[in-house]
Parts: sequence; C-alpha cells; structure tokens
Amino acid sequence: MNAPKNRVQHVLSVNVDPRLKTRIPTGVDYFDQGLGYGGFVPSNVMMLTGSPGVGKTTMTLQVADSLHGQGHVCLLNTTEQAPENVTLMCERMELKHGFYVADDVNIVTVIKNACAIQQKHPGKQMFLMVDSLPEMSMNDDATETGNKVSLEIAKLLRAWAKQTFGVVVFINHVTKGGAFAGKNNILHQVDQHAQFMFDIEKKSPTFGERIFKISKNRWGSSGVTSILQMTEKGLIQTGQLMAAES
Ligand SMILES: Nc1ncnc2c1ncn2[C@@H]1O[C@H](COP(=O)(O)OP(=O)(O)O)[C@@H](O)[C@H]1O
Ligand SMILES: [Mg+2]
Repeated sequence: MNAPKNRVQHVLSVNVDPRLKTRIPTGVDYFDQGLGYGGFVPSNVMMLTGSPGVGKTTMTLQVADSLHGQGHVCLLNTTEQAPENVTLMCERMELKHGFYVADDVNIVTVIKNACAIQQKHPGKQMFLMVDSLPEMSMNDDATETGNKVSLEIAKLLRAWAKQTFGVVVFINHVTKGGAFAGKNNILHQVDQHAQFMFDIEKKSPTFGERIFKISKNRWGSSGVTSILQMTEKGLIQTGQLMAAES
C-alpha cells in the first residue's frame, strides 16, 4: 500500500496563487466600504441575507451592473423572480451595463452556465450571483429543496469558486427573528456574510432605516456599516455608522 501523500508544509512556504492577493472593487461605494479591504478576492463566496423587501435583489443588480461596467463578467441566476422582472428593474434603475441572466433551478445547470460564460470570456473575472439559495434544487423539477439541500448547494458553489477563482454571491432568506435558512452550517461555507436589514430596535438611533454590514469576513476586517435608502433608481448611501454603533 502506498503511503499517504504528506500534506504537511511549513506555513511560510505554502504556494499561494497570486490571484488570492488581488482585490476586485465592485465600484458600488457602500458595498466596497462594507468589504473594508478594497473589494472581492477571486474564489470568494459571500452570503447576502435580509428580510423580504429590504432590497437584496436591488443591491445585487446594482453590483452586477457595476462589475460589468468595469470589464468583469457576471451571471445572475434568478429563481425569485422572472428574468423579465429583472430587466424591468434594470430599466427603472437606468442601469447601463447589464449582465447575464438565467432562471435555472438545478444547481448543476447553473454551474455549467457559469463555466460556459467563463470560457467565453477568458481572462475576465467571473461572478456568479444566485437569487436565492433556498429556491435552488439538485434536480430540474425543484423537488429537492430544504435546509440539507441548501447546504449541499452552498458546498457546490464553494467548490466551483475555489476551483475556478470565480466569485459567488448567494442570497439567503431570514426569518422574522433574523435566523437564516441552513443556519450555521451554511455560515461555515462562506467567506463573508453580508447582512442587509431594517433596524427594528425601537431604541436605536437608526430605527426604521436600512442597514448594510459585513458581519463575517475571512479576507479582512469588516468595513463600514452603511445606512441605505431605497429610491426609484436603487439603493443610495445616506450615512455610515462607527464600529461601536453598528
Ligand atoms: N419604483 C420604486 N421606487 C422605490 N422603491 C421601490 C420601487 N419599486 C420597488 N421598490 C422597493 O423595493 C423593495 C423591494 O426590493 P427588492 O430588491 O426586491 O427586495 P428583496 O430582494 O430584499 O426582497 C420594495 O420594498 C419596495 O419598497
Ligand atoms: Mg429579492
């Protein structure tokens, strides 16, 4: 029997792919400030959570459009709403650059689509956005869903990101109490957890405002917490909170 490959290395001699030292700003100020270190790292997986209506989809469209405008390439897989709705939202917000859109429920198809787009745009940074995780399935007829399946799907997305150096952002639902589908098992699969929420704390000075912050970040410190306002043209930053306030 062959001896198992010795995987022990001196930490300072581990071969680090240079792409892991790059940072890709999205061009959306509040988002980049939230990331706190200049942007996404290739192979990054982010979970974006928030209650219905807070503006997760709006935020995703703004970021995807901005990324395309900077020469990157982005696929939004939307099962929450039809591609036609997404197009109408883009028109309303007067987004100029656009992005690829699809509405597949099967995660295998979504990953195949992302790989095909990556091959079509060699040398460009690929982003895959999934709206939303709980709607995705392991098959074509969407019969396999639920927390266990969501965890497996998150693992597949993570494996794709790590293999291809693509960036993944997936949206997850939260309950009234702020818990998200899949709980901490899913949190372990992601490099970042971006939280977008209404401040429902009556005593809070930002009560009633939309708050955006990155609460977990494997690639650096959590950056600025922003107060955002929803407008017809999308989300705009109206303020920032210091670390102690957020
Ligand atoms: N024309 C509009 N002008 C301003 N706000 C709008 C407009 N249309 C929709 N909205 C707001 O967008 C919100 C929904 O945003 P969306 O990104 O779909 O949220 P989420 O994905 O978190 O459910 C709604 O709460 C609504 O207030
Ligand atoms: Mg949505």
